[in-house]
Amino acid sequence: MLGSKWMAPLWALLGFGVTGIVVAQHSTNANPASASQGTVLFSSNCATCHGADGRGGEHAPDIATASDVQRLADQNLIGIIKNGIAGTGMPGFDWLGQDKVLAIAVYLRTLQGKTTSVALPGDPVRGEALFFGKAQCSECHMAHGKGGFIAADLSYIGADVGVHRIREVILDPGTALPAQKRAVTVVTNSGQKFTGALRIDDNFSISMQTIDGGFHYFPKSQLTHVDIGSRSLMPGDYRSRLSDAEINDLASYLIRTSTRNSNSSDTHATDDEDE
Ligand code: HEC
Ligand code: HEC
Repeated sequence: MLGSKWMAPLWALLGFGVTGIVVAQHSTNANPASASQGTVLFSSNCATCHGADGRGGEHAPDIATASDVQRLADQNLIGIIKNGIAGTGMPGFDWLGQDKVLAIAVYLRTLQGKTTSVALPGDPVRGEALFFGKAQCSECHMAHGKGGFIAADLSYIGADVGVHRIREVILDPGTALPAQKRAVTVVTNSGQKFTGALRIDDNFSISMQTIDGGFHYFPKSQLTHVDIGSRSLMPGDYRSRLSDAEINDLASYLIRTSTRNSNSSDTHATDDEDE
């Protein structure tokens, strides 16, 4: 590694040798990652080499405007931050834990301009209240450590998809979600019916998680009926339960919470609809 163009004496200071324990699961503690946390973490862990704006420095390349880094899938970007790049001056940051690594990745995306210019169609503060209140999204979904386990953690959904996609899923989960992410319903030989989220479907068995959180395993030989994907586990009636403005508020909350503190006070709500 001594010949590397980017060889830096700095990495010695940065806990490079610390191969901490992988914190693989999303933590449920009260220390949610946010982009303001991301800002601080980026400046203390990355800026020395990559520059405060991520555009590169003496010791490391541009990771903000370089198109190959912008094009990295989120998983790969997170992988590089966690594991570093062996044989180069890029250390791994696994020891920070999953939440902090994610916060850094989200902040880096904002430096790349991927999310800074998102125009929010609604009010993220009202959206947060809806998410945990009237709309009951949190019965199934978690956001920053609060909420249910049956469905995807939505803390960083805004780093992957935009307002349009979030609205689409809320309005019509039965068609917007792929079949494998919709509900599975089985009827057993003894006539019992179970509906839940599909966890495993192999030649011989089906495993699912029901809304109450319980896991159920069924040998296929004991089932008289299996239905995967003809309906969604996510309620299909939000279109009638929520106003269009409320759906925009929810989408705005999920976009905003992925990129920064949801109570940060800077501008939002240019009233542009995306349909
Ligand atoms: C000690 C200096 C140093 C620090 C600190 C550092 N990096 Fe790096 N980073 C590098 C170097 C050097 C490379 C280029 C590695 C190579 O030669 O491919 C790199 C590469 C990368 C890449 C891949 C770039 C590409 O072209 O694929 C990403 C992404 C990245 N760093 C993100 C980060 C983030 C985020 C942080 C803070 C958590 C960070 N780095 C901290 C030195 C550093
Ligand atoms: C009864 C459980 C349930 C409720 C309540 C629920 N969802 Fe979902 N949601 C799901 C399931 C199941 C999926 C698909 C599987 C997965 O993503 O884990 C899903 C998927 C999604 C996705 C797509 C995730 C992805 O990775 O593509 C979004 C976005 C979403 N829901 C938003 C919401 C919002 C916003 C609310 C509240 C208005 C809500 N959900 C209420 C169960 C629920």
